[in-house]
Amino acid sequence: MENLNQIESDIFNKIKNAKERESLEVIKTEIFGKKGIITDLFKKVGSLEQDKRKEYASKLNSLKTKVIDSIEKKLSDLDQSEINNKLQNEKIDVTLPGRSYFSGKIHPVSQVIDEVTSIFSEIGFSVEEGPDVENEYYNFSALNTPENHPARDMHDTFYLDLSKDLLLRTHTSPVQIRTMMKSKPPFKIIAPGRTYRHDSDQTHSPMFHQLEGLHIDKNINMGHLKGCLYYFVKKFFEVDKVKIRFRPSHFPFTEPSAEVDIGYKIQDGKIKIGEGDKWLEILGCGMVHPAVLKNAKVNPIQYQGYAFGVGIDRLAMLKYGINDLRAFFENDIRWLEFYGFDPLDIPTNYRGLSR
Ligand code: PHE
Repeated sequence: MENLNQIESDIFNKIKNAKERESLEVIKTEIFGKKGIITDLFKKVGSLEQDKRKEYASKLNSLKTKVIDSIEKKLSDLDQSEINNKLQNEKIDVTLPGRSYFSGKIHPVSQVIDEVTSIFSEIGFSVEEGPDVENEYYNFSALNTPENHPARDMHDTFYLDLSKDLLLRTHTSPVQIRTMMKSKPPFKIIAPGRTYRHDSDQTHSPMFHQLEGLHIDKNINMGHLKGCLYYFVKKFFEVDKVKIRFRPSHFPFTEPSAEVDIGYKIQDGKIKIGEGDKWLEILGCGMVHPAVLKNAKVNPIQYQGYAFGVGIDRLAMLKYGINDLRAFFENDIRWLEFYGFDPLDIPTNYRGLSR
């Protein structure tokens, strides 16, 4: 009878030395195939004497189980080391600079917000923010626009509940109230952000952007407002001379109120800002109404000031010659490639706002 121990150690050596799945498969056939080592041993069981048969067969069986287990184990070891090899070889160093990449663009609206922030911060305005979901009090009542005031209808408000308390803010003016309520005067802030009205055509989108400005201090008058807006328009459109017109208007939260138009002309199919005899409205403004100051716990005898609200999307359209507002919000990557800005070119007053 063969030496089972010798056979066993031969088999285990073979298994141990297998380098990959394929060679292990070959070894498996060598052991368990039709003419395999263990198959042969089993064939011989029948020729043994009765009393040895049982013992020998049970030895063979346990050898068989051991070999199968060892093959399984080896297979999973090989799989694991294959994975490890792959991980090792395909390791990516994410800190290396890219070889080919698609560089994203800054949306014109974000660009304009960066530009106006830079312009106003130069003359001492800081940036404030307020929530898009407002309540009726901040959006209307505190701004001297009580219930049933006709100005509420003009705002085409999206209400969020039946009691008409929660709404999507229709302008950035509620940030005036929030700013004044949370600290003490003086205030000199701008507040860019999204605003919402139920309106949609070539120049209106249900979501659009405004920039609120608020300057409250002792002895602030309409001259400061004009000076500030002249400075802003010249800087923003990057021109030395501008034609600006203040047209009397009405807002419940300012008194007196004005709308500001900017002079322009169309030359060779392109818009030229600051010259010509056409006018385009770009913002609403005025001296903050004493009732608004009172609502925001500011003493209107001691303090007064001006506020303004600019349409940011309009500014972007004018400055960058974009004629359909809806394209701003369609997320067409080709449009953004064309009208977008380089992310590394952050607008500053000294390096230039736009290039
Ligand atoms: N909130 C006004 C609007 O959306 C604009 C505005 C702001 C007017 C501040 C005056 C003062 O139309």
